[in-house]
Order: sequence, then C-alpha cells, then structure tokens
Amino acid sequence: MRIDILTLFPTIASIPLGESMIGKAQQRGLVTIQVHNIRDWARDKHRTTDDAPYGGSQGMVMKCEPLFEAVEELKRRAGSPYPASSNQSDAATATSTENCPLNTEHSSAQVVYLTPGGKRFDQQMATRFAQPGAHLILLCGHYEGIDQRVIDHLVDEEISIGDYVLTNGAIAAAVVTDAVVRLLPGVLGDENSAPDDSFASGLIEGPQYTRPVEFRGWRVPDVLLSGNHAVIAKWRREQALIKTKRVRPDLLGE
Ligand code: ADE
Repeated sequence: MRIDILTLFPTIASIPLGESMIGKAQQRGLVTIQVHNIRDWARDKHRTTDDAPYGGSQGMVMKCEPLFEAVEELKRRAGSPYPASSNQSDAATATSTENCPLNTEHSSAQVVYLTPGGKRFDQQMATRFAQPGAHLILLCGHYEGIDQRVIDHLVDEEISIGDYVLTNGAIAAAVVTDAVVRLLPGVLGDENSAPDDSFASGLIEGPQYTRPVEFRGWRVPDVLLSGNHAVIAKWRREQALIKTKRVRPDLLGE
C-alpha cells in the first residue's frame, strides 16, 4: 500500500508515523508513506497556497492550483515505478520504495480530504481503505477551508476524525494512516489482534489483566485464572457487552 499525505505542516504528520508499528511496517516494505509540503507546488516566489475568499468573509481559503498539481503529480508518480522524490520537504517517514510493489498502469488513487465537515471516520472505513495494493492521497486542510472546486473535481471522499475542530488536518491524517496501516496483513505482531479490537466485533473490548494476581488488594477475576478457555471466552463476551452498554449504547442501537 502507498499513502501520500499533502499538508502545510509535514512535521506534524511525519513524527508519529515514523515510530512503533507504523515505522516498522515502512521499514519492512509493507507500506510506503510519504509526507509532502503543499508549498512545494506553489507557483510564486512566496510559495502562496491560500488567498482571500470571494464574496468576502473571515480567513483564507486554500487555492486550487497547488492542490491540483500536487495530486496530479503524485498520481503520475505512482502510475510508474516511483522515483526518488524531488521534494525537499518529503519528510523523514519517506522510505525506500524498492520493496513496495506499485501499479505499473494508471494510478487509481483515492483522494481523501480531512475536514471536520466530512463523514465520520470509523473502523469500517479504515478496513475499506486498508487494501495492500491501494494508493491513498490524504489532503489536509487549514485556514477556513479549501476552494470548493478541489472538493468537487479532485476529492473522492471527505472525512472527519470526530466532532471537534483541529487547527489543521495533519494530525487527522496521522490518525487515519495509523488506523489503516495497522490493519494491513503482517503489520501487527499477532495476526489475531486486529479482529479482536474494540469496534471490529461491534462491541468495545472488555477488561484485560496481567501480573500480579493481586495489586493493592485488587484481585484479578478468578475466571481468568481458571484455565477454562470456553468459560473465559464467555466471560469476555459478557464483559464486552456490559462495557458497550455503559459507554457506547449507540453501538447496540440503544
Ligand atoms: N481538520 C480539522 N479538524 C478536523 C477533524 N475533526 N477531522 C478531520 N480533519 C480535521
């Protein structure tokens, strides 16, 4: 899989993705993630990417030209063997692409715009995006928004990571990338852990315990020490249901 992130703040998106499981997934060639500065596609010497809104209102709007040119170039690059990036600001997450198979034909990239006004991102969406051969281009907003023509003619999908407003989409892009990449085959150490996740089963995961068996007078539930796997599995399902009812009744249609 390949993920390109287009942002005005490459460092914000790069740092979390260079660490831990996602960093290792890149080193192992399971995914290629590159973070690009939208300013690299600006046309003027001030590298302008935004302008005042027509009709007058507060704030600035991100311009069409750099965004169209950036996405078109990234699609072109992915449509042929991917060359070493010419962008100075391609961030530290960029890794070797030699061991990551790429389309040899036209890139069928999915262009996703991160915005608080988008459809709510969830585990189901993450699963839909997590296809080993797929190419995702994540477009991060800033200022008051982006020119509507970008949304109408360049973007395939608008998504939000929750009902709150961040200062820019780079954090949201890192969140989406993390949630998607961890679902790719081979990324998680234990192949069974993704299906056990909270949400994958429609329920919130129940409690987990580790040693010691007693800590400050609080004991691990006896059932977990019983060694009876059928009874333990039943208890886990019950606990997941209890927790889901308490914290997310909406998942049960309540
Ligand atoms: N940009 C700003 N806020 C956002 C959000 N909640 N989700 C996605 N992108 C955003």
